[in-house]
Amino acid sequence: MVEPAAHPGASTAKSVDVSVDNLDRERDRLARVEQLARLGELAGGLAHELKNPLSTIKLNLQLLQEDLMQLPGAETSRARASTLRKEVDRLGHTVDDFLRFAGRLELHTKPTQLNDLVRDLIDFFRPQAQAANVRLHTSLCSEEPLCPLDPNLIKQALLNLMLNAVQAMPDGGDLIIRTHVDQNRVYLDVADTGSGVSASAASHIFEAYYTTKKGGTGLGLATTRRIIEEHRGHISFTSEPGKGTNFRLDLPLQ
Ligand SMILES: Nc1ncnc2c1ncn2[C@@H]1O[C@H](COP(=O)(O)OP(=O)(O)OP(=O)(O)O)[C@@H](O)[C@H]1O
Ligand SMILES: [Mg+2]
Repeated sequence: MVEPAAHPGASTAKSVDVSVDNLDRERDRLARVEQLARLGELAGGLAHELKNPLSTIKLNLQLLQEDLMQLPGAETSRARASTLRKEVDRLGHTVDDFLRFAGRLELHTKPTQLNDLVRDLIDFFRPQAQAANVRLHTSLCSEEPLCPLDPNLIKQALLNLMLNAVQAMPDGGDLIIRTHVDQNRVYLDVADTGSGVSASAASHIFEAYYTTKKGGTGLGLATTRRIIEEHRGHISFTSEPGKGTNFRLDLPLQ
């Protein structure tokens, strides 16, 4: 089984190290939140400037394609117009993906039962997991922790982790979600029995656009970390290649 990520220990000797670690972690979190807020403002403006001309190009291309349909012997031009349409669509998707990661993020938080949110998500995800031969398990704490969360964003963050877990188990396996409360934080683990993260990939997986998957955008974990850190939370992981990976989130209690 995968080692769970370390969480605040109880011994006095350790607690000095842990609090220094926590300060570093908190400083890093704040730096990223601020950096992404600045990027979000620029990204929003740029995306707006790109999307208007893109939709004009798309509309005109569509009209051009219709004209070319009437024109005998215009097969090559029709093929070129169709390539242009595909590329315009691709550009549109690239802007949308980028905005999902770097756009303005407005949190609509409300007191939320984290375990209930997990239960909802598991129900929603079960058919997809079953189709991929993945067994879902939960081990939810008895406290029913109440947290200030934006439920839609947290679901999106967890879904990214669950999708990654399933994708890391192409031949099926186990996906386990656990919660536990320690002092004023709630910890949530998403563990899989998949391929694991290689040592060379480990320092990059939270970077935007880092992916090892054909067709992946590499924005899933970057977006997840942003969402968690905007909630004053943290995300970390432990992994053993060939055995599995455990992503751990911690979030403040209400
Ligand atoms: N549970 C996991 N097990 C093994 N590797 C993982 C796991 N989760 C993430 N990774 C690694 O981290 C990389 C980045 O993940 P991330 O979710 O950001 O992007 P992606 O899954 O490749 O693409 P996207 O989520 O945008 O479709 C993955 O390509 C994979 O190499
Ligand atoms: Mg992903």
